[in-house]
Amino acid sequence: MLVFGRRQFTAHFRWFLASVFLTAGMIVSYTLTAVQTGELPGGSSPLGLMLGIVGAGIIAFEMLLWPRKRFLRARTLPLIRTKQWMKAHIWLGLLAVPIAVLHSGFRCGGPLATTLMLMLGIVVASGIVGLVLQAWIPRRMLELVPEEVPITETERILAVHLAEFERRLAIAQGKLGGPEIEGIDEVVRYYHSEAKPYILGITFPESLTSPTRATSTFALLQARIPAASHPRLQELFKLCDLRRQFHIQTRLHWWLYHWLWIHLPLSVALVGLLIAHIYVALRYI
Ligand code: HEM
Repeated sequence: MLVFGRRQFTAHFRWFLASVFLTAGMIVSYTLTAVQTGELPGGSSPLGLMLGIVGAGIIAFEMLLWPRKRFLRARTLPLIRTKQWMKAHIWLGLLAVPIAVLHSGFRCGGPLATTLMLMLGIVVASGIVGLVLQAWIPRRMLELVPEEVPITETERILAVHLAEFERRLAIAQGKLGGPEIEGIDEVVRYYHSEAKPYILGITFPESLTSPTRATSTFALLQARIPAASHPRLQELFKLCDLRRQFHIQTRLHWWLYHWLWIHLPLSVALVGLLIAHIYVALRYI
């Protein structure tokens, strides 16, 4: 679905070429008409009107992605495969920009036409941002979250690890029989005051949220306590690291799924403005 990377670009190449040729063709016809008539054709000229109709058609097609994604029946219709539909959505959406600029005859028009043009630019820009996020986030996730798990499982997994860690601490304290391990009190104190609230997602001290600060915090602690307690401290370090990874994973997931809440309402506003623009224009033709 994405444009980035060599394999994805090959898949999009035909659409890219078609868009370049169509844009070049439109610019040539526009320039020839402008030379013939001695003025820049605007929205009410025959060429401008045709470009306006094509642009509105493209925006109507762009909006069809919404029902297609939302309703199962539309998604399973064999008419156009989802990948093809997405490529058309991206490239026709981009093509709408030169079409709208030529349709306007390089003039701002009234406030409604100007807002419509700005909104088109913003919707297309938000689409590009979404596309970049969809390409960037999964890669970033691989780098930053090697322990990735289903997002609904993160808290349960942490709770299981915490329970196991507390059992080991109790053993080290001699609470389940056996001798107390030297220096374990210091680990227990740090666990209850700083690490546990962080792992449970209650507090976010910078000494643990930043990986470099966390490494130096644990290195300082380790230097202070006897070697017998180092294994428990290392386990605690790994638990804090896991919390950090899950936190990053939650944040990246949020962006991956919520950027559409910018793109979609703006698209709806664009259609509203377009309808108003068509209504106003028809009264003057
Ligand atoms: C005229 C301009 C455009 C309009 C009106 C428009 C409208 C829409 C709509 C209605 C959706 C479906 C929202 C949903 O599923 O809830 C969508 C999704 C999307 N659009 Fe656009 N769009 C436009 C241009 C673009 C452009 C230029 C790009 C990229 C360069 C783009 C990228 C996307 C992406 C990546 C999705 C999500 C698809 C998915 O995750 O399945 N859009 N758009």
